[in-house]
Amino acid sequence: MTPSRAVASPRVVSIGDLRPVARRQVPKAVFDYLDGGAEGEVTLRENCRVFDDVTLRPRHAVAVPGCDLHTRVLGFDLSLPFLLAPVGYSRLMHPGGEVAAARAAGAAGTAYILSTISGHRLEDVKAASAGPVFYQLYLMGGRAAAEAVIERARSAGYSALVVTIDTPVSGMRERDYRNGMKELISGGLLGKIPFLPQVLARPGWLISFLRDGGLPDLPNVVIPGKGPMPLVDINAALASAAVTWADLRWIRELWRGPIVVKGVLTSDDARRAVDEGAAAISVSNHGGRQLDCVPASLRALPEVVAAVNGQVEVWMDGGIRRGTDIVKAICIGARAVLCGRAYAYGLAAAGEAGVARAIEILRVDLERTLRLLGCPSVGALDRSYVNVPVSWG
Ligand SMILES: Cc1cc2nc3c(=O)[nH]c(=O)nc-3n(C[C@H](O)[C@H](O)[C@H](O)COP(=O)(O)O)c2cc1C
Repeated sequence: MTPSRAVASPRVVSIGDLRPVARRQVPKAVFDYLDGGAEGEVTLRENCRVFDDVTLRPRHAVAVPGCDLHTRVLGFDLSLPFLLAPVGYSRLMHPGGEVAAARAAGAAGTAYILSTISGHRLEDVKAASAGPVFYQLYLMGGRAAAEAVIERARSAGYSALVVTIDTPVSGMRERDYRNGMKELISGGLLGKIPFLPQVLARPGWLISFLRDGGLPDLPNVVIPGKGPMPLVDINAALASAAVTWADLRWIRELWRGPIVVKGVLTSDDARRAVDEGAAAISVSNHGGRQLDCVPASLRALPEVVAAVNGQVEVWMDGGIRRGTDIVKAICIGARAVLCGRAYAYGLAAAGEAGVARAIEILRVDLERTLRLLGCPSVGALDRSYVNVPVSWG
């Protein structure tokens, strides 16, 4: 069966069903890179499990003839209350990579956030999407590279910068070390040899990867006067890419458009982000890929919502796999959520068709959930539709 037919199969009814399709398409190292988390993966697991702690309070016997899924985010009217999160190395999952994901997001009426660690030029990604596109900024390559990319993002029509603050160094993703991700991406041939069997076990992926020319140097991390940053330099560059509040101020002066601070888990950081002029905050632990043993994003959401007190939009990401997850996050105060792995499984499984399928699964799920809840629109969701554990506040 072709990948596009596999994702369209009537047996693929949930995001959980897309995951094994992705696993069959790409080498183990690529699947684990996308699927895995940091250290013991405690936060990764908890991000999903925590949704079980919140239950729904339906209003039965009310007529809900149609459901309005629209949401306003940073002044944009989106057809759906979920956006596609920045996912680095998307081009490793499928040659279409970031272009395919942005196109699928735009076609569905939602926004796409492009990671700094992208294999496609930001101009090409913007051109592919009919919807808003935001640029996620790491200070890789220092301020000179950031200044250059901010200028390019502005000229290309990016609508917001998403500044990720939870990556002072890369998290310890043990699966990646065991699988030789570093050697496979940027090492020499000798270093690659022990890890080659897993790549050869996925000939379809290998052929399309080689046809695509392999992974390019980072086209959006360009230090003026030098070329795109080589892949081999990424880890060292990330280790000196920590964003401080002073950096955020500098970025804001330069950009002058909306800034989203991604990676907030506490009321202190939330208030600081508001004071520093953020237009939105994403409550996030990077999908459990950075510091392990921090709280699940949903668990941190009430504290941040209370601290922000309506001053800026609050988004959240981490563990979103179902329509009920989206509903619960919005009821607890999120304006919208970001999906990472949910669409990345689709991308790895079947490129753009896979991302479109993931979005459609979530859309249908969400609409059914609203109808079953007796709620006419995403905008009408509030705390009265959920039971939240008393200890959450
Ligand atoms: C494979 C992968 C790569 C990611 N790369 C980035 C990145 O480059 N920048 C960033 O801010 N977040 C990155 N994230 C984190 C996501 O933006 C998002 O916070 C996370 O995936 C949400 O959790 P979920 O996957 O459970 O939806 C990445 C996540 C994954 C799974």
